[in-house]
Amino acid sequence: MTRLSVNLNKVALIRNSRGSNFPDLIQVAKDCERFGAHGITVHPRPDERHCKFSDLPLLKENCTTEFNIEGYPSRHFLDEVIKVKPHQCTLVPDEPNQITSDHGWDTIKHQSFLKEIIQELKAHKIRVSLFIDADVKLIEGAANVGADRIEYYTGPYAKNYSTNPISAIKEIKDTCAVAVQLGLGINAGHDLNLENLRYLKENLPQLDEVSIGHALICDALYLGLENTIRLYLNKLA
Ligand code: PXP
Repeated sequence: MTRLSVNLNKVALIRNSRGSNFPDLIQVAKDCERFGAHGITVHPRPDERHCKFSDLPLLKENCTTEFNIEGYPSRHFLDEVIKVKPHQCTLVPDEPNQITSDHGWDTIKHQSFLKEIIQELKAHKIRVSLFIDADVKLIEGAANVGADRIEYYTGPYAKNYSTNPISAIKEIKDTCAVAVQLGLGINAGHDLNLENLRYLKENLPQLDEVSIGHALICDALYLGLENTIRLYLNKLA
């Protein structure tokens, strides 16, 4: 089974644009769960333009499914994550002002940095996933630094899917067996949508979890949140 974790950053962005609590992020998270989502993801960035760090304890308290916090592991981020103890923390090598994540970790260059952070998070019983490009050396590096899972950066897959799905999936598919052999769980995220999700799932039977935000929230504008979540779950069935 592949779990669907709904990334609520875009909901928080709309809320923040008016300074009040509408839409209510916690209510939306609970509704996503009621509509069948297996998890909730947020990505607090240093400027808090999406999810705010103050949202984290409330989300943890109210969510009944898996809670995943992703982001760059600054000291501040790590302290907040450790306070909240989500089920999973996905580490992302984002620059503070990046519009969105667009590459995975260099697990060789940042080996000692990552190793130390992962040890700390795991000591608090938080599962750690590393955002990563589909490259065997980097995946081996992820296993070496003690990650529990990798999250494939699926931006390039999504970009190339419509013109050539076979070549779009090739690197992810080829490296996935290595990751599984190394004992890593497999997550995937970024630019996944109703068009490209089923093909990803069909080619990666080992896929544990996808986290999807932008396209899912955009689809919900037209289709409604309940219907949209059902359609995404259907692609993973
Ligand atoms: N995974 C990571 C690490 C991300 O940074 C994001 C975007 O916040 C996603 C997954 C979800 O990407 P999208 O919003 O394109 O579905």
